[in-house]
Amino acid sequence: MRASCEVFVVCGIGGSYLGARAAIEMLNGLYGKDEIEIIFIGNTFSSTYIAQVLEHIKDKEVCVNVISKSGTTTETSLAFRLLKQFMEQKYGMQESVKRIVATTDCARGTLKALADEKGYETFVIPDDIGGRYSLITPVGLLPIAVAGIDIDALMDGLQQAYMDMSSADLNHNPAYRYAVARRILQNMGKDVEMLVSYEPSMSMVAEWWKQLFGESEGKEEKGILPCSATFSTDLHSLGQFIQEGKKVLFETLLLVEQPLLDLTFPTDEENKDNMNYLAGKSLHWVNQMAAQGTLQAHEESGHVPNLIITLPDMSAKSFGYMCYFFFRACAMTCYLLDINPFNQPGVEVYKKNMFRLLGKQ
Ligand code: PA5
Repeated sequence: MRASCEVFVVCGIGGSYLGARAAIEMLNGLYGKDEIEIIFIGNTFSSTYIAQVLEHIKDKEVCVNVISKSGTTTETSLAFRLLKQFMEQKYGMQESVKRIVATTDCARGTLKALADEKGYETFVIPDDIGGRYSLITPVGLLPIAVAGIDIDALMDGLQQAYMDMSSADLNHNPAYRYAVARRILQNMGKDVEMLVSYEPSMSMVAEWWKQLFGESEGKEEKGILPCSATFSTDLHSLGQFIQEGKKVLFETLLLVEQPLLDLTFPTDEENKDNMNYLAGKSLHWVNQMAAQGTLQAHEESGHVPNLIITLPDMSAKSFGYMCYFFFRACAMTCYLLDINPFNQPGVEVYKKNMFRLLGKQ
């Protein structure tokens, strides 16, 4: 795949794209350090977005990975039909087949049937792994590998976390401590959790996390509403509410010790901007001081409780470790509410209405 494309288009929604996108943006950066551009489609009905993607890729070498466990998700099927026709027109039938890979159930669904009929290479999503936990199956691993990221390192991190978090002892299991802390905070009236990072390239990690917790926990009129912010950017929008607004939320800080890259702030002889007080300092240090100052402001005068999760760095191994931490914590925090973390009955309701309006039989 890497040898034959400039653009790798991932077509999927929810658990079938969020994890891969979170990993790729965090590990490669927003302006992609890798030579292959990864584009996500099939996660919206927006005509503007879909048309813009097709326009953007029209003169580039393209490969496609369509991902759907059920094989019937409308957003994905709609975008994939357009992509399939685009590929067939661009490359002809034979070549397009070599450039399309389907990740789906081993037997069920229209995508599986279509892939078999066309002869696409397929990867299997194991039956017992639900969408939002599927990042560590080919759903996530194929796009992440095509993005040039070391998936063995990612799985090493995950395995390490599995070993570290298998203890039933709360004192030795950080995932369970987080799971329990969430329940204690909710019992104190905190119905909203804001996942905060200081790295813009981790905003998709927050989107992935929101789906994981929102879809796992939000049932039977229970659960904590997951929301997210990137600081210090959002301190200039949401900061006021957090500091002085209604006391409904707690923050979970997702901090990074070693950034992917750092810069030293330069001195300026003229100092017209009065910024020389930072000369010689690392930008990451400035970011850390912003985090420290904000934590103090929110906790001490804002009375907003903060949980802190620290990643040692922004490596594939740490990403894998973090994923398992959140998987395990999510399952436990749901069980503490007597909720099944692995289903999502509520998401069917909008589909019924939409299908009626679209005239689907
Ligand atoms: O977590 C889930 O189960 C969902 O978010 C699904 O991943 C999402 O609805 C996409 O489903 P599918 O992979 O069947 O197209």
